[in-house]
Amino acid sequence: MSIQDELARLEELRRQAELGGGADRLEAQHARGKLSARERLDLLLDDGSLVEFDRFVTHRSTDFGLGDQKFLGDGVVTGYGTIHGRLVYVFSQDFTVFGGSLSEAHAEKIVKLQEMALKNGAPLIGLNDSGGARIQEGVVSLGGYADIFLRNTLASGVIPQISVVLGPCAGGAVYSPAITDFVYMVRGTSYMFVTGPDVVKTVTHEDIDMEGLGGADVHASKSGVAHFASDSEPDCLASVRELFRYIPQNNRAIPPVGGNADPHDRQDEVLLEIIPDNPNHPYDMHDVIRHVVDEGDFYEVHAQFAANLIVGFAHLGGHSIGVVANQPAVLAGVLDIDSSDKGARFVRFCDAFNIPLVVFEDVPGFLPGVAQEHGGIIRHGAKLLYAFAEATVPKVTVITRKAYGGAYDVMNSKHIRGDVNLAWPQAEIAVMGPKGAVEILFRKEIAASDDPKAATDERIAEYRAKFANPYIAAARGYVDDVIDPRQTRPRLISALDMLRDKRDRNPTRKHGNIPL
Ligand code: HXC
Repeated sequence: MSIQDELARLEELRRQAELGGGADRLEAQHARGKLSARERLDLLLDDGSLVEFDRFVTHRSTDFGLGDQKFLGDGVVTGYGTIHGRLVYVFSQDFTVFGGSLSEAHAEKIVKLQEMALKNGAPLIGLNDSGGARIQEGVVSLGGYADIFLRNTLASGVIPQISVVLGPCAGGAVYSPAITDFVYMVRGTSYMFVTGPDVVKTVTHEDIDMEGLGGADVHASKSGVAHFASDSEPDCLASVRELFRYIPQNNRAIPPVGGNADPHDRQDEVLLEIIPDNPNHPYDMHDVIRHVVDEGDFYEVHAQFAANLIVGFAHLGGHSIGVVANQPAVLAGVLDIDSSDKGARFVRFCDAFNIPLVVFEDVPGFLPGVAQEHGGIIRHGAKLLYAFAEATVPKVTVITRKAYGGAYDVMNSKHIRGDVNLAWPQAEIAVMGPKGAVEILFRKEIAASDDPKAATDERIAEYRAKFANPYIAAARGYVDDVIDPRQTRPRLISALDMLRDKRDRNPTRKHGNIPL
């Protein structure tokens, strides 16, 4: 054959590969409200940047209903491309080919990509849309999943791994996204569960549909499995691109520097107004964050889950930072089981990837209650404490109001290697709040008093003056300075600049034993 004939054949094969499971199945995919594997990559990556691997790979099994059907690429598009000009590796499962199910060959394509991403130090993004293990391939496909899980684990903390769930993700298949750093889902079309509604009905007699069992909102707000829930696939993929404004290529790289139009010395008057005069009144910590960070731009992670703790990314003086903040507007900002898990995982991501931590603290303590105690608040709270204590990235804290009890220690205190700890003048740093303290210490005196309320109020005022302020901690050097709230932005930027070349390390060991 002449080269022209060969080129025509190559072109025809390319066209075939791009058709996936064929025009009818593609139409069915669109009818389900879902984009094709390639349309998704077009939205995720910079225009025309996809370079594909293994488009001629096909499956090796021919039995049990497969006949001689073969589809080029075997149900997954793999390759590399760029986001904001930076290298990323991507795979995108093609539901039109055997329901995007995972065969031996399909798994090998993903494993090849995982190894390349690890070797070359670039993030890996997986777009998942799959009926799970390819039924016709049996244990070989289970082995393929395990090969992927192993590499997810080995790459953890070395390169960022992002999972975007855009269709079914069921059975053991959920454990690859679960190991990765961030999980994105779309309302109405993506779902994750270990066993589906039919099995649930048989085993527990509970009636529930797929969305109710494992849809985007369920995982973003209840289970915490998903970090982001979007209304559409384009919104979801745009949000993934946004994440890349903050995260670095790998654990040895510096995170990207943001735009710097916002003056470093900007002092925001609004910061004087946010804290209510009554210390028991709530306020929204998002207001503090937005008035401090560059251009008010905050990329919140896990926004729907455990909203009593806020975590997310921003830039401050151009530095990419991870923000961890108590939220007085939800449950008064207490730490509980879910917020401890949420915070610990985020802190560990930032520490692994050289992203400095900035903590805004207003915490009345840990949430009391039987459900919390029996649910293991001790074990879960310890995760957050452990994560902050082991983190060696620059760590800066601003105590805006309350810092009570064990939560004072946990929220990046000086004692667990906080580098720069600042307090606003309204800060209350003590073992517990005034009312609780007075009721414990002066119970008998108050009971014997003619006017118990007046006696209580008097003791509370005395306690406030003596303990519920920032100056006792400042006198010990437990906070480095008490600052005018308007100076928060310049002081934080100055601290981050000062800490830019920070070097700190933990003892040599195989690994610590975080209380999981
Ligand atoms: C092979 C599969 C498949 C699978 C779907 N297909 N799942 N082929 N292996 N696992 C094929 C279908 O035969 C069909 O082929 C096409 O994909 C689309 O499937 P439909 O059923 O028509 O689509 P839909 O109605 O949207 O339903 C999607 C679905 C359903 C909910 C995912 O297909 C389903 O329940 N599949 C099985 C899910 C499952 O139990 N997988 C194993 C999970 S356990 P045609 O030719 O008609 O287009 C697991 C273990 C992982 O994965 C282990 C890790 C340790």
